[in-house]
Amino acid sequence: MRTRRDGIPSQEPAIDEVARIARELESHGRFGLTRGFIQHGDVSVYEHVVSVARASAAAGAFLERMGVRVDRPSLIRGALLHDYFLYDWHDPDPSHRPHGFTHPATALTRALEDFELTERERNIIARHMFPLVPIPPTCREAWIVCMADKACALHETIAARLPGRRGGRTACA
Ligand SMILES: [Fe+2]
Ligand SMILES: [Fe+2]
Repeated sequence: MRTRRDGIPSQEPAIDEVARIARELESHGRFGLTRGFIQHGDVSVYEHVVSVARASAAAGAFLERMGVRVDRPSLIRGALLHDYFLYDWHDPDPSHRPHGFTHPATALTRALEDFELTERERNIIARHMFPLVPIPPTCREAWIVCMADKACALHETIAARLPGRRGGRTACA
């Protein structure tokens, strides 16, 4: 059984939970800006983080069925905010370089400007680029997002190169 942030058990399906939390983040912070930035191929940052959150929620639900405890709200919020850097990383602005190494810290700073974050949510955002940024995650939720992010990024990048295919919008969800 999942537990809500307020400690009350939740029966909400994982996919509905992703959509609900995405709406909350959009109404209380700058999450909507991620719709306007491209991540991989022609997939927006918003589409990418929703895919990562759905893949992470599915992995978390599987682990819960195996008897492993997962902080589902932190898992989903962290996944949705893991790329909350709020700029176009294709822009040659030197302040964004090297994006691959610096954007987790930028995303964490921007997320803390808009939201209160749990320790797990901070860990998810700050450590999601392991092993490129060689400091590993320290909780299972951050490991889940770290792996889901790579799977979705790979899918989006490959799908964008296939003839007649739009890059990765649906298959990694
Ligand atoms: Fe990232
Ligand atoms: Fe990502």
